Amino acid sequence: MTTDKQLEIFLDIATEAVMTAGAILQAYWGKLEEIEEKGRPGDLVTAADKEAEAAILKVLERHVPNHGILAEESGQLGDHQSEYLWAIDPLDGTTNYAHQYPIAATSIGLLICGIPQVGAIYNPFRDELFRAAKGLGATRNRRSIQVSRTSQLSKSLLVTGFAYDRRETSDNNYAEFCHLTHLTQGVRRSGSASLDLADVACGRIDGYWERGIQPWDMAAGIVLVEEAGGNVTAYDRSPLIMASGRILATNGQIHEQVSQELLGVPPLSSWK
Ligand code: IPD
Ligand code: CA
Ligand code: CA
Repeated sequence: MTTDKQLEIFLDIATEAVMTAGAILQAYWGKLEEIEEKGRPGDLVTAADKEAEAAILKVLERHVPNHGILAEESGQLGDHQSEYLWAIDPLDGTTNYAHQYPIAATSIGLLICGIPQVGAIYNPFRDELFRAAKGLGATRNRRSIQVSRTSQLSKSLLVTGFAYDRRETSDNNYAEFCHLTHLTQGVRRSGSASLDLADVACGRIDGYWERGIQPWDMAAGIVLVEEAGGNVTAYDRSPLIMASGRILATNGQIHEQVSQELLGVPPLSSWK
């Protein structure tokens, strides 16, 4: 059983790590000499991703050397028998960052016995720090945040994303995007899943869904949305399974409506 005091300590460690990474992201901004592709076309990695991750790992090594780690660029590290697993995305929004489009963040979530319980997300380009811990609420720049109250799908603003395998599969979220664009005030595509979840948590966006994302994209944001009063599930409203890569996170009010539309989405060919 992790006490509230321990959760606060872990949240402060996550905060130290995201702020350290944020300084590195700022230092490399506009100065990248090389942008590599990791395998799939468009799946980029830069010196900023790698250096930010190395700095985060040092912070964790100093404070919690016995915990497990799942880091986007380094994979599994530390003790994987541990009940504590840190899911790290040193730069969420690499494509934006590489183009100097300032929507990107560092996201660090802590899973305890498989459940996300602590999260910190920092966007250095807006100087926005989002923090949350289970049972202790969610904040933006240390002020309490809540999800929006929008209760009608037709009045909502949503956000989604498209995974790097989108050219290789027909399950690429294009039909869902068109369908929900038709039914709402708009569907945005920010390019940073963690910031999408943070935006749901602070009420700027009413709902977010995506397929093909990883634990490091969502772990911190899940805690934020839940602690801000929202709902996070699978598309069909069953409990979220992070390994499925599919997530639906909303203000709660429109959860069922979005879920039903995602489950009954008409094929793209019907848009003629
Ligand atoms: C990506 C972003 C993007 C989402 C992709 C992610 P990265 O992460 O979160 O919004 O649509 O699925 O992979 O590669 O910038 O860390
Ligand atoms: Ca990411
Ligand atoms: Ca990343």
